[in-house]
Amino acid sequence: MEKVTFTEEKATMLATLYSKAVDNRLANPILGDQAAEDALEHIDYDFEKLGVTTASAEGIAARAKVIDDWAAEYLHDHPNAIVLHMGCGMDSRVFRLDPPPAVQWFDIDYPEVIDLRTRIYPQRANYQLIGTPITDLAWLDRIPSDRPALIVAEGLLVYLKPEAGGELLRQLARRFPSGELIADMLSRFGVKLQKATPIARNTGSTLHWGIDDPTELDQLGYHTTACLDAADWFDPRTPEGQNFGFSRSVRLQFAMTRYIPGLRRLAKIGRWSF
Ligand SMILES: C[S@@+](CC[C@H](N)C(=O)[O-])C[C@H]1O[C@@H](n2cnc3c(N)ncnc32)[C@H](O)[C@@H]1O
Repeated sequence: MEKVTFTEEKATMLATLYSKAVDNRLANPILGDQAAEDALEHIDYDFEKLGVTTASAEGIAARAKVIDDWAAEYLHDHPNAIVLHMGCGMDSRVFRLDPPPAVQWFDIDYPEVIDLRTRIYPQRANYQLIGTPITDLAWLDRIPSDRPALIVAEGLLVYLKPEAGGELLRQLARRFPSGELIADMLSRFGVKLQKATPIARNTGSTLHWGIDDPTELDQLGYHTTACLDAADWFDPRTPEGQNFGFSRSVRLQFAMTRYIPGLRRLAKIGRWSF
């Protein structure tokens, strides 16, 4: 067992990991991430204190599922891509997607988080881990820049200071011949409500970067190609929503969200090309 004493933003990945395990225990999981469940068995931590509920776990699993599906599409079209999975935490995306052999995949997070990963998950070919604060940009020099890049930031941008996060994204867009960014965003209103956000409250982490509209990244060199707001990805009438099979309580919660603009626009998942 690995004893873990992470706090603040490093602890948030324990909440997302636990959420994925909770989803995996449902009769009809949304993500079905068995690796999350297996990882929990190796981590000595009081997960109960994170306050994860079945409904919040379904939300986290659905976000990961949308991102997996978009990432798989990109890798299908670019089987020699570089993948930068920024703020990977303990997420097992590289194992879930099992990318084509020519894809070079980098999982990047704080050194302590990467250290935990290496003690729990197996190695694989063309897969490297980089332990660094993501906004210390020296790590970029370790990445080949001659191929299309898929950049994934799930549950990360909101923890970055806007200036540092903006500079990171600007440098990334300049570095590769072409690429795609897939990331989720929280609105400025959502950042203001941070004490009401169970993951932030229970880990003592601070939310910084609110993004209301995906086109805010245009000035950094990006072009929005898709954006789902919270109600879209929980909407049983949309193709994304139909596939999830959310529980009744989550469907009800999000049916109400649809009619309250501040809540509807609180959380989004976007896809940008550069
Ligand atoms: C909410 S968790 C998400 C983890 C994973 N992407 C997932 O969805 O399960 C946020 C992750 O971002 C990482 N993170 C936050 N700020 C960071 C920074 N400045 N540098 C490196 N990693 C950071 C945290 O350590 C944590 O693993």
